[in-house]
Amino acid sequence: MRIAVYPGSFDPITNGHLDVIERASRVYDKIVVGVLSNASKKPLFTAEERVDMIKRVTGHLDNVEVDSFTGLLVDFAASKNATVIIKGLRTVADFEYEFQMALLNKALNPEFETMFMMTNSKYSYISSSMVKELAGFKGDLTGLVPCEIIEAIKEKYK
Ligand code: PNS
Repeated sequence: MRIAVYPGSFDPITNGHLDVIERASRVYDKIVVGVLSNASKKPLFTAEERVDMIKRVTGHLDNVEVDSFTGLLVDFAASKNATVIIKGLRTVADFEYEFQMALLNKALNPEFETMFMMTNSKYSYISSSMVKELAGFKGDLTGLVPCEIIEAIKEKYK
């Protein structure tokens, strides 16, 4: 069974993330979405809230599991019996950082392959930080994040 981990902060999950999860779930037998529970990043949502939101919007995919992790990604991936790390690429600006992380993870544990998925072009401009900035100005989030979580985001900026 081919298990892939899709790691990230997901603060919050966007339609770009969801698109990668849906497409990856058709390529691998199982996808484990790994939510980095890192307090030093001062997330808007707690790790538990982020896990719950991702579970809600991936309920239609029966081979997707969602969990949070602390520490190294390669250790989390090993604990889930994964052999693949999935990363989404939006722009060339993402590439340099992702390239460095992929090489570092390879050095830490050569058993994992990082596989890059090009984002769907209609989502290439969406990021969690842009979503938060827009939400802070009471902007319309329709089309940027799954509609099930729009209220939860608005609630944080009340
Ligand atoms: O959504 P993000 O914030 O770009 O995701 C970054 C993430 C979670 C993939 C990255 O920070 C990560 O893998 N952190 C875990 C710590 C780790 O393994 N570090 C060494 C590799 S960079």
